[in-house]
Amino acid sequence: MSGSMEGKVALVSGGAEGIGAAVARLIVAEGGSVMLGDIQLEKARALAAELGERADAVQLDVRDLQQWEAAVSATRGRFGKLTVLCNIAGISEPGNVPDGSLDVWERTIDINLHGPFYGMRAAIPAIEASGEPGAIVNIGSMIAMRPASFVAAYSASKAGLRGLTQSVALDLAERGLPIRVNMVHPGAIRTPMYNRYKHSGADTPENIETSFAATHPMNRIGEPEEVARAVVFLASDAASFTTGVDFTVDGGGSIRS
Ligand SMILES: NC(=O)c1ccc[n+]([C@@H]2O[C@H](COP(=O)([O-])OP(=O)(O)OC[C@H]3O[C@@H](n4cnc5c(N)ncnc54)[C@H](O)[C@@H]3O)[C@@H](O)[C@H]2O)c1
Repeated sequence: MSGSMEGKVALVSGGAEGIGAAVARLIVAEGGSVMLGDIQLEKARALAAELGERADAVQLDVRDLQQWEAAVSATRGRFGKLTVLCNIAGISEPGNVPDGSLDVWERTIDINLHGPFYGMRAAIPAIEASGEPGAIVNIGSMIAMRPASFVAAYSASKAGLRGLTQSVALDLAERGLPIRVNMVHPGAIRTPMYNRYKHSGADTPENIETSFAATHPMNRIGEPEEVARAVVFLASDAASFTTGVDFTVDGGGSIRS
């Protein structure tokens, strides 16, 4: 890819670190502009400063529709339009139904499912107003297709987001809007989220790494840049006839027997 995001303006939730930060870096490297939205505003600002003129940062808690509307306005104010939304912010905390905490359930559904819903609600009119082809990329998980027993809320939130993504993809296509809506499903990826699991104390970090790697037939942990390439492909006009797709970046994890 080279210059695949030229002329594109993206709002990236969860852009301060992990996969969101890798997506933001690649959008700028590919010639686009990016607004980083995150609850970690200082970190997002530092990354935007490093990325230069075509990057900026805005306070965004994805649980709050008004903050989404303000972030969309800030993006249009700073870069003149909005053409791409990347819903990357998300959390993963262990907990099952019989004895997991209700807080984990509520927080996970709030951030991972309500968050992208609010984001799409705020961004779609703005993308439409740009008059240009637009794209939305939502981050799911291998677990959206292969639920895991130790993360009930996370499994439900990502499977729910998959249904939501496909519904919005159909709706926008049927309305005749040139806005594609797709999903990227990572396996275990080396980010701060992954490192929190690795150093949780549940086992030695080495054993935890070995068991996460073994969920992927390719038997390793993925890198954020590998996910970012899939996100940027789907956000770019290179994917111009692709909507509603599940793009896995999981070393074969979702098809293992
Ligand atoms: N890392 C993995 O192994 C993995 C695997 C599958 C899916 N995912 C998904 O990828 C996405 C990114 O994960 P990551 O590993 O980069 O996570 P991370 O924890 O490393 O980074 C998440 C970012 O989202 C931000 N964020 C958290 N809550 C927010 C909120 N309420 N509003 C705005 N921003 C918020 C954080 O501040 C942080 O910058 C998530 O949706 C996650 O579920 C990650």
